[in-house]
Amino acid sequence: MKGIILAGGTGTRLHPMTSVTSKQLMPVYDKPLIYYPLTTLMLAGIREILIITTPRDQAAFQALLGDGNALGLSFSYLAQPTPGGIAQAYVLGSDFVAGHRSALILGDNLFHGDGLPERLRKVSGAACESGATVFAHQVADPERYGVVAFDAAGRARSIEEKPTRPRSNWAVTGLYLYDTQVVDIAADLTPSSRGELEISDINRIYLERGQLAVERLDRGVVWLDTGTPESLLEAAILVRTIEQRQGMKIGCPEEVAHQMGYIDDAALEAIASRMVGSDYGRYLARYLDTARFAQA
Ligand code: G1P
Repeated sequence: MKGIILAGGTGTRLHPMTSVTSKQLMPVYDKPLIYYPLTTLMLAGIREILIITTPRDQAAFQALLGDGNALGLSFSYLAQPTPGGIAQAYVLGSDFVAGHRSALILGDNLFHGDGLPERLRKVSGAACESGATVFAHQVADPERYGVVAFDAAGRARSIEEKPTRPRSNWAVTGLYLYDTQVVDIAADLTPSSRGELEISDINRIYLERGQLAVERLDRGVVWLDTGTPESLLEAAILVRTIEQRQGMKIGCPEEVAHQMGYIDDAALEAIASRMVGSDYGRYLARYLDTARFAQA
């Protein structure tokens, strides 16, 4: 399975910060925002990842993440000339995903919770060869999101983008898994009234074909999207609170790469030694010491 991180957009709600840099490069406590969705894909077992950015910010993402080799991954980059909606990722990325199943994650979505990596690996694995899987989470303000409503048997019945009168409080999160049909479905979409190719239209087509699975995330999983100064700060405080209490980082790609067996001790040591001046680098060194002790 291949992965796409959509990190385009003008970040209007974060002006003036985003007048010089991308929203997905802004810090959430101790690391750039994009590290969180990146590690979510990594934990799902995905190693080939396309990063879609604005033309302006592409070089900055490349400077941060490189070609992925240092993490045992492969990154490629594409520019989204103008923001045309989330589903445009599959128009731009059609050659990248052609013939493969894929996962798309929004570059400003942060997922964290017990059991989530196992769940992601299950749905990205062979058991879900065909159709689409989306994840839903309850929110207090469903009108801001894609909303899925269920019938009495718990089957998804409708998906609507930002409905004025939501039929449920289940928001569709920014993590989507698709089979190979998605490229053709995206190519046939027409822009919505807000001028965007809507991911909810893709999901509705899978729903109408009887090929949409909706995985409900419960309160044990945190899902945040971070498009405003308040939500960035809230996410940072949450990450800091958990990291300081547990002494373990959330959304640390180097640690995940090592845990997943994508890089060995020596590769992680080399990365950590380049960052010893920061808490982040010292954390990696400490993590490696503990991992080595456990292996001995
Ligand atoms: C987008 C999607 C929406 C989804 C949300 C998740 O909204 O259109 O369906 O629920 O991401 O973050 P937007 O970020 O465009 O407001």
